[in-house]
Amino acid sequence: MKNGLAIIIGFLILGSLFIGWKISQDLGASETTTAPQQSEGTASNTIEFNPPSIEDVPDGPLGESIKYGYDLMMDTNTIADEYVGNNLSCASCHANGGTVQNGAPMIGLTAVYPEYRPREGEVFTLEDRINGCMIRSMNGQMIPEDSKEMRAMIAYLHYLSEGIPAGADIPWRAAKEQKQFPVPSIEDGEKVYAQSCASCHAADGGGTGPNTGPALWGENSFNDGAGMSRLTNMAGYVQKNMPKGQGGTLTDQQAIDVAAYILSHDRPEFKGHEKDWPKGGRPADIMNNEKREQIKNGTIDWEAMVTVKK
Ligand code: HEC
Ligand code: HEC
Repeated sequence: MKNGLAIIIGFLILGSLFIGWKISQDLGASETTTAPQQSEGTASNTIEFNPPSIEDVPDGPLGESIKYGYDLMMDTNTIADEYVGNNLSCASCHANGGTVQNGAPMIGLTAVYPEYRPREGEVFTLEDRINGCMIRSMNGQMIPEDSKEMRAMIAYLHYLSEGIPAGADIPWRAAKEQKQFPVPSIEDGEKVYAQSCASCHAADGGGTGPNTGPALWGENSFNDGAGMSRLTNMAGYVQKNMPKGQGGTLTDQQAIDVAAYILSHDRPEFKGHEKDWPKGGRPADIMNNEKREQIKNGTIDWEAMVTVKK
């Protein structure tokens, strides 16, 4: 009996020694495979674009809020009608609720906010940023921070960012883009529009619906304080995403031409312009009434509008 016990204890000791050795081997192995990756580049190399499915949202009160947040992103102008001042949804730009890599994705945002924005000289929370799009892109009102709607949008954005570590460098963020475009021709842009865009966005730019072909100009579109009102932002977005399903097919010239054509039309005016960008001035490529006047009388400086610092 005593011998039996000794043998068992002996095996246990040997076994744990072996496991200890195995673990240290594995750690050693993984150290040697990850070390070169870290020295080659930044942490962004290791973050993959892998949005979770809305189908996998768990049951229960948190899950209900996440799903409500998703519905709000997809059908903003109907569900949150009282706050929205045009005929757009968040998904009109943040394709499929921000889950498409080239369509202004919203994956990873809870890892990077709050964020300091030098131009405004202000620390922005995620709520501030959502409300930035509410008063500009949605031409509407701010959603109160303690409302069911704002909580749901935040819950949804947290769900989208699950597993992405705080402070991570998010390689697909739209805000990082900076690209040089050639000087546009509005006449050529009109042809591109008629041929490749009007079928979904309508010949008069009024759109066919927030998620089938959103309004690109006129009273149901975003206002002239929106990110999309910046010529190179619009051109970059269009080139990567449009025509829907054929992103990457337009040349730089076609993309800037059609963006200039779209932005040459009237749209709602943002009411807070005079207080905008207190530090660093208005971006040079914002297309507003003043610039549209310059297009009409031929004095617009296109060169300055395509040479912008973001
Ligand atoms: C007309 C197009 C448009 C619509 C509609 C729109 N957005 Fe945006 N949104 C943008 C663009 C463009 C940016 C990036 C702006 C920039 O360059 O900084 C952005 C940025 C954001 C960001 C910050 C992303 C980042 O990487 O920091 C959030 C959050 C956001 N939008 C939320 C929303 C929500 C929520 C809605 C609906 C209530 C909405 N947006 C509607 C165009 C739009
Ligand atoms: C097959 C339909 C279709 C075609 C064709 C199409 N779009 Fe879109 N467009 C959409 C949809 C749907 C969205 C909403 C975002 C998404 O789902 O990708 C959108 C969104 C946009 C947006 C952002 C929303 C907004 O209100 O600003 C712009 C800008 C845009 N399209 C420009 C264009 C341009 C320019 C062309 C032609 C080169 C074009 N689209 C062709 C369907 C289309």
